[in-house]
Amino acid sequence: MIVFDQCSYQYSKKTPLETTAIKAVSLKLEKAQLTALMGRTGSGKTTLANLAAGLLEPGEGSVFVDDLDTREKRNSLKISQKVGLVFQYPETQFFCPTVGEEIEFALKNFNIDNPYRMLTIKALENVGLNASYIDRNPFKLSGGEQRLVAIASIICWEPDYLFFDEPTAGLDALYKKQVLSVIKQLEKSGKGVYMITHDTKLVKNEAKRLVVLCEGRLFYDGGVQLFFEDSQNMEKTGIFEIF
Ligand SMILES: Nc1ncnc2c1ncn2[C@@H]1O[C@H](COP(=O)(O)OP(=O)(O)OP(=O)(O)O)[C@@H](O)[C@H]1O
Ligand SMILES: [Mg+2]
Repeated sequence: MIVFDQCSYQYSKKTPLETTAIKAVSLKLEKAQLTALMGRTGSGKTTLANLAAGLLEPGEGSVFVDDLDTREKRNSLKISQKVGLVFQYPETQFFCPTVGEEIEFALKNFNIDNPYRMLTIKALENVGLNASYIDRNPFKLSGGEQRLVAIASIICWEPDYLFFDEPTAGLDALYKKQVLSVIKQLEKSGKGVYMITHDTKLVKNEAKRLVVLCEGRLFYDGGVQLFFEDSQNMEKTGIFEIF
């Protein structure tokens, strides 16, 4: 479980640009229960995911991944192996000249001693890409292919918790279906899967639990249906169904 206890986070702390992105959030994120994270632009969703992955340290309060405190430096490698983050803009995640090296980098980083090539192919196949992608330049793939490679480069080392930041934004129907099937497969295998999204239809159809942030605070945590039944919730949080 990932546990936020009265967690706050400020960017540019103690400078004139200080911004409080997360305000006193207490939240428990469980496994095997596909959870959607919603909230308007700037409400703190990405910041929350970064705090869960230990990439940011809470200013106040705490974040624990299982029993590991993210503020403790000695826990950072263990936490980064437990929590995978598929970034909002996957191209910012790449730094290797080939897809194969991109995926292998993580495996080497965590000293996973299975044959790299086999695990790389398995990860690619799990997201619906074949082995021919191994020698491709990740920067020269389409947006949808980049999203899938970014996912492969995270699922290859089998983290227990996975955050997907806007996983389906800008994808055509086929890629969207593919990404969704990977997400559901991960949930089914007992992982903690959290998707940050503005797509209300996706949330209504797929999520089992909904967490809503509003101006950095936890506004809602509960069933999906219940949230959308109350029009006041939508007015207060700016989450509307446009189509
Ligand atoms: N690197 C940063 N430096 C300073 N302020 C930041 C930084 N990243 C985010 N912020 C601010 O923190 C707040 C929360 O940002 P965050 O990126 O977590 O929102 P979000 O809910 O993910 O938004 P979006 O839906 O647009 O992705 C915003 O006010 C934002 O301007
Ligand atoms: Mg974001």
